[in-house]
Amino acid sequence: MPRHLLALRTMSRDDLTGLIERAANYRTAGAKSEQPLGGLVVANVFFEPSTRTRASFEVAAAHSGAHVLNWTVQGSSASKGESLIDTVKNIAALGPAVMVIRHFASGAAELVARQVKCAIVNAGDGCHEHPSQGLLDAFTLVRRWGSLVGKRVLIVGDILHSRVARSNIYALRTLGAQVSVAGPPWLLPQWIAGMGVDICRGGDAAQTHALFEAALEQADAVMMLRVQRERQQGSDFPSAEAYHQLWGLTRERARRLKAETVILHPGPVNRGLELAPDVADSHRSIILEQVENGVAMRRAILEWTL
Ligand code: CP
Repeated sequence: MPRHLLALRTMSRDDLTGLIERAANYRTAGAKSEQPLGGLVVANVFFEPSTRTRASFEVAAAHSGAHVLNWTVQGSSASKGESLIDTVKNIAALGPAVMVIRHFASGAAELVARQVKCAIVNAGDGCHEHPSQGLLDAFTLVRRWGSLVGKRVLIVGDILHSRVARSNIYALRTLGAQVSVAGPPWLLPQWIAGMGVDICRGGDAAQTHALFEAALEQADAVMMLRVQRERQQGSDFPSAEAYHQLWGLTRERARRLKAETVILHPGPVNRGLELAPDVADSHRSIILEQVENGVAMRRAILEWTL
């Protein structure tokens, strides 16, 4: 029976560790290791744009011996009005072993999993979860530190819309990290209080900022989130410069981090908004290491589903 990867909320420490160990083996062995997906088809079905996730699953599937079917809205019959369910049922009829799906609606991957017989991997559903990103981020930090127990990870920015933040919080906490979140009050949702994280929220703006600056100075890793302007239509968003000065990782803030603190970002980076350009390119940034590790983790995920 295929297994679906829909969310990290319910994943145990053993599940996460097993996937991380498998990814570590692939990272060491490189492209020419085992090909457990030999002769199988992996379908990438993306209703939202993607650079990293789609390409990474494509490379991962190819390294594991699978053929890849890439489907996007543009040029497909979805642009003529075909529904999500009709689209995935028709792609499933082509016989993929795994369908990797990204959709703008929270819960879409789970809905699809009930409609088709192949394994489903959630490549991001609305503001809900992005499990392969959470796994590759956890893998990146485990690879660097050996263990996450007691490590402090600060997640900053657009928490409200971030499926990356949610998946990371589940994975990092399950693996023993202490997670804090910081961001503008209108992007810190009420539900964050129930996720077992420390929240940089004071009685007023000055106190909130003092908590944010203190959390930055204590963090072992700072994960900056992309500001998702496409999910904030009509909101009163400050200027890019104002946001950057208030909540961005500016050059000055980066200078105050501990010497060994690393900076992560799931991409795509809005340079000058959440991250100063030279901070994004600095020795602290492990953004491209995340992308490299993503291929090994996605090989592990594809194998795990089967
Ligand atoms: N991190 C991430 O999901 O990037 P893409 O949107 O480019 O896939």
